[in-house]
Amino acid sequence: MTQAAVRTDVSDEAIAVVLAAGKSTRMKSALPKVVHEICGRPMIEYVLDAVRSAGVKRTILVVGHAADTVRSLLADHPDIDYALQAEQKGTGHAVMMCREQLAGHRGPVYVLYGDMPLLRSDSLRGLLNDLFENRAACVIGTAVTDANEGLGRIVRDNAGHFQRIVEQKDATAEERAIREINTGCYFVDSALLRSALAELKPSNAQDEYYLTDIVAIARARREKVEAWVATDPAEFAGINSREELANMEAEIRASVNRKLMAAGVTLVDPATSYISEQAEIAPDCVIGPNVQILGASKLGEGVRIDGTAWLSNVTVGPRCHLKLGVRAEDCVIGEESEIGPFAHLRAGTELLGHNRVGNFVETKKARLGRGTKASHLSYLGDATIGADTNIGCGVITVNYDGYDKHHTEIGDRCMVGCDTQLVAPIKVGSDVYVASGTTIIREVPDGSLVMSHHPQREKSGWMATWRKRHNDSPDGSLRRKKH
Ligand code: UD1
Ligand code: CA
Repeated sequence: MTQAAVRTDVSDEAIAVVLAAGKSTRMKSALPKVVHEICGRPMIEYVLDAVRSAGVKRTILVVGHAADTVRSLLADHPDIDYALQAEQKGTGHAVMMCREQLAGHRGPVYVLYGDMPLLRSDSLRGLLNDLFENRAACVIGTAVTDANEGLGRIVRDNAGHFQRIVEQKDATAEERAIREINTGCYFVDSALLRSALAELKPSNAQDEYYLTDIVAIARARREKVEAWVATDPAEFAGINSREELANMEAEIRASVNRKLMAAGVTLVDPATSYISEQAEIAPDCVIGPNVQILGASKLGEGVRIDGTAWLSNVTVGPRCHLKLGVRAEDCVIGEESEIGPFAHLRAGTELLGHNRVGNFVETKKARLGRGTKASHLSYLGDATIGADTNIGCGVITVNYDGYDKHHTEIGDRCMVGCDTQLVAPIKVGSDVYVASGTTIIREVPDGSLVMSHHPQREKSGWMATWRKRHNDSPDGSLRRKKH
């Protein structure tokens, strides 16, 4: 016999409805508002983070405008169900589109807008506690702020009890002066939500179905509605325009930078340090001007980045030095390596430590053993290279035949001479000396010297003959401009 599940944590049963179908009229964009990025992450991801850390296990995302873009962006989030709002007829209408998903649900429902990237899970828990403590059927998150432009105002009676929400476009002059605003976070009993949605009508200045009207419907039915005042109004700032997007980016960035500096990281010019919230940067790193460190990048102690670098999901070991102009993505740079100037480390690059990757070197799916160096002008793709090998200037792995990519393997302690091409698939053993200008087409055994030189020939006096043929003087001065 199985036992019925015991209710331990009420939040286990809460689900969330997040609205992200809006046309983003004020953004003037072909993309839905919620996919616009803030500090390198789509806005919607911030809201989903808050919802998850509040313990919500299932989220229904209402999509509409460019729905497929949102879906594919969030393809790796298995806890999200989708509801389609084909035509955007207001926030209430958006929630109506979740009818099916809400039908079988008994616990309470968070209803949130997808355009509030600063939302924190503490506030969601605040709503939850208020609902249960007051045995309310609905709690609205509110905040008191002077920045109330465009927002729904909270109307209370003389005794201070919550009465209704009025949208700015429907408000009287007196109501517009109210500083308490609707944040756009609600926690509602699911039975109430279902039945109130069925009663919504588009009777307002915008001819829209307002989600906010469910509150009025609940009150008309004498259900208990609470307004929970959040402490930090900034947390609920909605993004409605490109300017607000840029301002929020700047704010988040500044706060990330402040935390890093407080934790012992030098930012030479914080105004041009673009560092993601997910990045982990150890003390005594020095980050020069115009540097972007995106995604879940990690920098070990004492890493120095001279400036103008773009790093995304990169792990950099302690005391590495990234010189001017490094671009690196999805790769690992082992300790005390020297990278750049002007190096391009593409996905799958793995440097095991004490490496040097110098100017105009591009690596891709390349593993370089400890101490191995490629100092100038190389392409190393689909390659495994051992330890303490020197890759000379202009060495190229010829990895692509037009259809497939092929692998190159080079052993330890090799000297690969300048201008060598390795035609993959190919293997070069350890302790091999490759003469410069060699084209390697066969496996090279350990310990050998390999070369594919054309024999050198000289024709004495050839230059003079050539100049004469061009009616030039013996020293070629007619061809050169006088200066
Ligand atoms: C809404 C609230 C307002 C509140 C403010 C907080 C209503 C009627 N008003 O106004 O009280 O102070 O948020 O920021 O709810 N969306 C859809 N489908 C639609 C319309 C909107 O999914 O048909 C989504 C949007 O993508 C967005 C969210 O709902 O993520 C909010 O829509 P928005 O138009 O920004 O609402 P506001 O006018 O800001
Ligand atoms: Ca809004």
